[in-house]
Amino acid sequence: MSLQINSVLIADDIEQECVDILQNNGIKVTVQTKQTKEQLLVSLPQHDAVIVRSATKITADLLNASAGKLKLVGRAGTGVDNIDVPAATQNKVLVMNTPQANSRSAAELTCTLILSLARHVPQAAASLRNGKWARKDYMGEEVYGRTLAVLGLGRIGSEVAVRLQAFGMRVVGYDPIVTKEQAAAKNIELLSLEEIWPQADYITVHVPLIKQTENLINKETLAKCKKGVRIVNVARGGIVNEVDLVESLNAGHAKGAAFDVFEQEPPTYRELIEHPAVISTPHLGASTIDAQLRVASEIAENIVQLNKGTVLGVL
Ligand code: NAD
Ligand code: MLT
Repeated sequence: MSLQINSVLIADDIEQECVDILQNNGIKVTVQTKQTKEQLLVSLPQHDAVIVRSATKITADLLNASAGKLKLVGRAGTGVDNIDVPAATQNKVLVMNTPQANSRSAAELTCTLILSLARHVPQAAASLRNGKWARKDYMGEEVYGRTLAVLGLGRIGSEVAVRLQAFGMRVVGYDPIVTKEQAAAKNIELLSLEEIWPQADYITVHVPLIKQTENLINKETLAKCKKGVRIVNVARGGIVNEVDLVESLNAGHAKGAAFDVFEQEPPTYRELIEHPAVISTPHLGASTIDAQLRVASEIAENIVQLNKGTVLGVL
């Protein structure tokens, strides 16, 4: 691979480490965030590479207009749903991400949300702040001995499983590319989805948003779940059908839900956000100083390594 990156446009907010590493390795850096599509049409073809987080959308239009000039799109994070990867491939533009850099942070947020659902922490804190002392309203339950279903046993799903086993949860899981033996090595019982629905007390999704996972949790699958099930989505909006979930909560079937990601961001479906049994956070999975330092330095290091002929993190 003889790709040389001499100039990088940083199009989203990113830690200074990214700029420092690139500049210390002789790469020219321009930081220009919050650009409109019209501005990007001009700025992208002026650079060898662009680094984005999730705010800037690298669309087919932008990639086609930058053909022959832009060589690389770097995503400081995991999901590449803001980049048109097929259009990038067509235009011979390399797409790189940093898939491991924020897994631990996303896993820790997931565990925080599961424990918060069990003990109504955000609702109880808000009630106390409002001057109430409503101890009876916030009776919780232990997670110990309860069944957690992890759908998607990749980087984040596996880390969630290990952490909640420490709380004494029985962990079952489903992932089409994981064998029973691989799951068992992590103390996870690999089951089919049909076996999982009626057994799980908590279901957490850690899959990519693709055709096969869109609406993975919907009206039909919720109906197969145990009464009292709680659903968690720290992966991508659209994996859990938001309207079907609210219906299930209102019918008294699902007992609670936690969302960090939404079909539309910021979310417009207020019935979900304002539901008393729902805890929601504004896409904070990777929002830790630790993860942000890692994504910033990893994407910069990957570009430096690419210039040296070693390719890391290419999709
Ligand atoms: P990963 O690629 O390591 O793991 C995903 C797993 O899902 C894979 O093992 C894959 O085989 C499995 N899978 C695919 N299709 C499936 C299906 N139909 N049913 C069950 N499993 C299936 O990904 P990851 O790094 O663990 O990330 C998981 C999700 O979390 C992604 O959607 C990612 O974008 C998201 N994410 C969110 C945040 C956040 O800020 N909330 C942060 C990082 C990642
Ligand atoms: C990711 O895909 O890395 C996360 O959703 C967090 C982010 O978008 O920064």
